[in-house]
Amino acid sequence: GRLVVLVSGSGTNLQALLDASADPSYGARVVAVGADRDGIEGLDRARRSDVPIFVERLKDYPTRESWDLAIARKIADHEPDLVVSAGFMKILGAPTLEAFPVLNTHPALLPSFPGAHGVRDALAYGVKVTGCTVMLADAGVDTGPILAQETVLVRQDDDESSLHERIKSVERGLLVETVGRMVREGWTVNGRTVIIGGAS
Ligand code: GRF
Repeated sequence: GRLVVLVSGSGTNLQALLDASADPSYGARVVAVGADRDGIEGLDRARRSDVPIFVERLKDYPTRESWDLAIARKIADHEPDLVVSAGFMKILGAPTLEAFPVLNTHPALLPSFPGAHGVRDALAYGVKVTGCTVMLADAGVDTGPILAQETVLVRQDDDESSLHERIKSVERGLLVETVGRMVREGWTVNGRTVIIGGAS
């Protein structure tokens, strides 16, 4: 299966998918990496693996809608079977969501602590267990159907950075496992429902 991965930062989730796809039996490979900004390690990771990249910056467009269309076109150029938003910090608009199944990851146990500061919010709330979620992206913020979750214990001496790093080490494995299953088992997505197993 052809994956287009979208990043905005360090790209450790992307790296896990690049590493997994080195094994032909994984069943998926990263055919392109897209970003909403330049100068991030995620793009360097793509370059090191000779994977085509594209950057679409919101500020280069007159309206949000024109950016939505531009990013959807760039994704379409690579004919993905699945788009993976891995630490991508923009909400994808209808042109992308209506054209492709989009997977997203979140470093908390949704529906708890959605949004851009899930780790900080969980820590501030004082939860003893948090974790990560792999879900389908929909038009909302972290509101799509949940596909997989994994727990991570919060330590007494954790700060946001130590907890997020520990979550990310679990998150990248969950993402690789979920993407692999989707591609090998031929999951199909119809709106908000995911049909597990090939459509007969
Ligand atoms: C991940 O925890 C992702 O869920 C969150 O930000 C982090 C991105 O990490 N949105 P990376 O860019 O994949 O290293």
